[in-house]
Amino acid sequence: MTQRIRKAVFPVAGLGTRFLPATKASPKEMLPVVDKPLIQYAVEEAVAAGVDTMVFVTGRTKRAIEDHFDKAYELEVELQAKEKLGMLDMVRSTVPDGVNCIYIRQGEALGLGHAVGCARPIVGDEPFAVILADDLIDGNGEEVLAQMTREFARRQCSILGVERVPETETDKYGIVSAEPLEDRVSRVHGIVEKPSPGDAPSNLAVVGRYILTPRIFDLLARTPADHRGEIQLTDAIAELLKYEAVYAHEFRGTRYDCGSKLGYLKATLEYGLKHPELGDEFLAYLRGKDWGA
Ligand code: UTP
Repeated sequence: MTQRIRKAVFPVAGLGTRFLPATKASPKEMLPVVDKPLIQYAVEEAVAAGVDTMVFVTGRTKRAIEDHFDKAYELEVELQAKEKLGMLDMVRSTVPDGVNCIYIRQGEALGLGHAVGCARPIVGDEPFAVILADDLIDGNGEEVLAQMTREFARRQCSILGVERVPETETDKYGIVSAEPLEDRVSRVHGIVEKPSPGDAPSNLAVVGRYILTPRIFDLLARTPADHRGEIQLTDAIAELLKYEAVYAHEFRGTRYDCGSKLGYLKATLEYGLKHPELGDEFLAYLRGKDWGA
């Protein structure tokens, strides 16, 4: 029986230390790029891939995300009274009809693997997607998760979203060793977390998009914490390889690491320039500025 991806897990319980103090009282996934928080871009990407159940694994600063996807009665009444109907529509469509949002708490930030494991009671026994909202990816026409669910429909196996990174930066990512099969698709043979450049098996880095089969939950439950006390999703995927085929999909698109300040600034610039209402004016502003260089 072919299965399809109906549920997406959004781990949003990290401490976001690289973005302090902005993340002191609010999750980094609520940082806006131009006019939308990162988490909304991620949810829109999931909706575009046909996902109808959004599972947020939240932490100590969970309120802002729940409120963002909740109905905003007072705001709606005000906008209606002022006949700001375009804005009313925008506020109402944050969650499209037929899409459910479910929240589950990760009591302590014990790592990405632990966060994904927390979603087990909701995901159950079906394949699912994981989206890290701080990796904002402009699919330039086709959202990355949609590219990956297409691949899943063919293979019915776990698929990792990967990107080639500079060889000097392998120590920031999970890195796969993989055998190329066809355009943009490889069969994964191994995966290691943050190898130093000399030890990395390749420069194919796993970035914030995964499609996983439910066996990952059993493996996560028995994955030991690493030297920092965190349960790594990468380690459980390394175990998964012993039981099932796993594929790497080199997606089409441009990724911005919005968990870092520089990546976030780049995203803000590029999305600002592409914005339908602001782009032209923003470009004129940038062009008119004396950069002193
Ligand atoms: P990061 O590795 O970016 O960690 O997490 P972080 O804590 O959020 O940020 P820094 O490094 O301290 O600045 C990757 C993703 O996994 C989630 C984060 O919210 C982010 O989306 N995460 C991480 C959890 O949900 N729980 C955790 O225990 C760790």
